[in-house]
Amino acid sequence: MSPSIKTSKDFKRTTVTAALPYANGGLHIGHIAGAYLPADTYVRYLRMKNHDVIFVCGSDEHGAAITLRAKKEGITPKEIIDKYDTLIKNSFADFGIDFDIYHRTSSELHKETAQDFFTSLYEKDIFSKQTNEQFYDEKFEQFLADRYIIGTCPNCQNDNAFGDQCEKCGSTLSPTELINPKSALSGQKPVLKSTSHWFLPLQNYEKWLREWILDSKKDEWRAGVYGQCKSWIEQGLHERSMTRDLDWGVPVPLSKEEGAEGKVLYVWLDAPIGYVSATKQWAKNTNNDWKKYWLKQENEADDSRLIHFIGKDNIVFHCLIFPIILKAHGDYILPENVPANNFLNLEGDKISTSREWAVWLNEYVKEFPTKKDELRYVLTSIAPETKDSEFTWAIFQSRINNELVDTLGNFVNRTVVLINKYYKGEVPNINLSTAKDLTDFDKEVLEGIKIQTEKVSQNLEKFNFRDGLFEVMELARLGNKYLATTEPWKLQKTEPQRVEQIMKISAELTANLAILMRPFLPTTSDKIANMLNLENDLKWDLAGNLDLLESNNGKINKATLLFEKIEDELVESQIKKLDDNKARKLKEIKEQKEENAQTNPIAEIQSEIQFEDFSKIDIRVATIKNAEPIKKADKLLKITLEVGEQEVTVASGIAEHFSPEEIIGKQVCWLANLAPRKMRGVVSQGMILLAENEKGKLVFVSPEKMVNTGAQVK
Ligand code: 2FM
Ligand code: ZN
Repeated sequence: MSPSIKTSKDFKRTTVTAALPYANGGLHIGHIAGAYLPADTYVRYLRMKNHDVIFVCGSDEHGAAITLRAKKEGITPKEIIDKYDTLIKNSFADFGIDFDIYHRTSSELHKETAQDFFTSLYEKDIFSKQTNEQFYDEKFEQFLADRYIIGTCPNCQNDNAFGDQCEKCGSTLSPTELINPKSALSGQKPVLKSTSHWFLPLQNYEKWLREWILDSKKDEWRAGVYGQCKSWIEQGLHERSMTRDLDWGVPVPLSKEEGAEGKVLYVWLDAPIGYVSATKQWAKNTNNDWKKYWLKQENEADDSRLIHFIGKDNIVFHCLIFPIILKAHGDYILPENVPANNFLNLEGDKISTSREWAVWLNEYVKEFPTKKDELRYVLTSIAPETKDSEFTWAIFQSRINNELVDTLGNFVNRTVVLINKYYKGEVPNINLSTAKDLTDFDKEVLEGIKIQTEKVSQNLEKFNFRDGLFEVMELARLGNKYLATTEPWKLQKTEPQRVEQIMKISAELTANLAILMRPFLPTTSDKIANMLNLENDLKWDLAGNLDLLESNNGKINKATLLFEKIEDELVESQIKKLDDNKARKLKEIKEQKEENAQTNPIAEIQSEIQFEDFSKIDIRVATIKNAEPIKKADKLLKITLEVGEQEVTVASGIAEHFSPEEIIGKQVCWLANLAPRKMRGVVSQGMILLAENEKGKLVFVSPEKMVNTGAQVK
């Protein structure tokens, strides 16, 4: 490892956080692979090294999504968060994600902590107070958070775009950009009304962010994390409001300030502070000092190291906004690393809660209570560390059958069974460090134990969990090859001394495997430790030793089964379950649409216009000459249109509906005189017209017969 890159031993202690899940839904395998499993693996590793570490998490119980859902369902936010906090906490516990504390942002302690943060920044004069016009729902008598305003996206014409973002084309919006905005509460058109908010001037921290991240984190942070930070900083930072007009959240603690009433802290000045309040609660429970884990110490060398495990959608908040808040406060340490993951897809599609396209953690642990390590293994093997990756039940099956059963399980089983058979469970007493008559292959295997220990450690230190687990399996593969090549079962009668060597080497390799796999596969490690009669509190620094079995008086136990093959039926039934859920959900959506259509046959017709208004619209027929994906914009395609003699470029939010190849050559209708707009670096000229079919799929609006491109639509 390059000497400039710090590792755990360069720090006195470590504070590990995993993104606080929103308490308005369950956890699925995408969440687990994205943040919680790598965090848990890393913490288990540090604990094995006797490193002083705390692992904190909790439910994120504020935010517009929770209030919106409560209002829609006619229940209180508290009812929602109580239900999901319990579900989430139990799922984590059942799966074995081993937090030191799982806290809640609705707690009194959290409220005080977040308010103290706000007050501290306020007293340092960090915020700028601004009074702006914002949408207000006259029926519900409340200002509307950006998420509470729904309208047509100006970029892709999606009718259900939110005031902060269009989830169809991915563009970031402000509520006033929406066409025909409506309140999500009353369905009525909101009015603009003035209100005051406290803004954090991110732009004042640009120079510092450049030094702290761009100049110093390039080698340590993952390329995707560093790249996202760079692109945000380079696009220019702006002020961001840190307060919201809402009745659910942490109240703004400014009783004497005009305009502070009825306001709460923006969720990003609330949720990450949940890491701090969780630590405070843990410290209370265990009689510890929370300050050691969060505050700068007198001597910098005594500072804790802060590591945030998150998904890529939270990079900006954890790498820019939260550090700015911590820096502005002044007393807190900053994140040392943010090993964010990309997304995990499922069976060829994005995981989607609303479409029920997910493998839910609570269902998995219920259906497969004895297969937790199997899921840990598969999710780590395919972890989306450098790019999005994919889970399929066929991959689940093949990884388990070919790797866990055939390689790891087979090797451990053979070793334990043969030692029981030949020596009544007593491991041959040979000192491998001084033994003289070892073969080259024996030496290669013993060296392999040391090499793999080093490789696994290095990968864990660098947060490369996927590679780390691969190196553990390399050791199992080496053991398997060793037994298959030396074939001790053929030599037992003729060369018993040689067999003793082979079995001693295999046993020590197995003991080393139990240590190296422990952060990744804790239950399996326990099972192997029990078979080998090793103490369960295995320490990392024992790895690489060749006399681990001497500590157990050399006596091992009988073999127990580690893994079972996954049958085809399991794969088929899980895929059927996904398909059934999806079909049921689509049916529900269709029925809902039909119901809406009956009560309002032509849904949401826009307000009346005059012919002069219509005549301002210039629609032309055009042919798609080329189409290609746009980097970092999963939903957009860059399309080149031929319009008469000209070629124009349009960015269109259709990438989830069409592949580039299938649309080249199509004639489409193009809104020619829409003001150009820059989307993800592409200047989009005009817009391609689309309609949505009953399944929610977009279709082009095209002329009935081919016409010359450039022809006007009247
Ligand atoms: O994206 C999310 O899941 C949010 N609940 C935020 C999590 S990170 C936060 F806690 F800082
Ligand atoms: Zn859109």
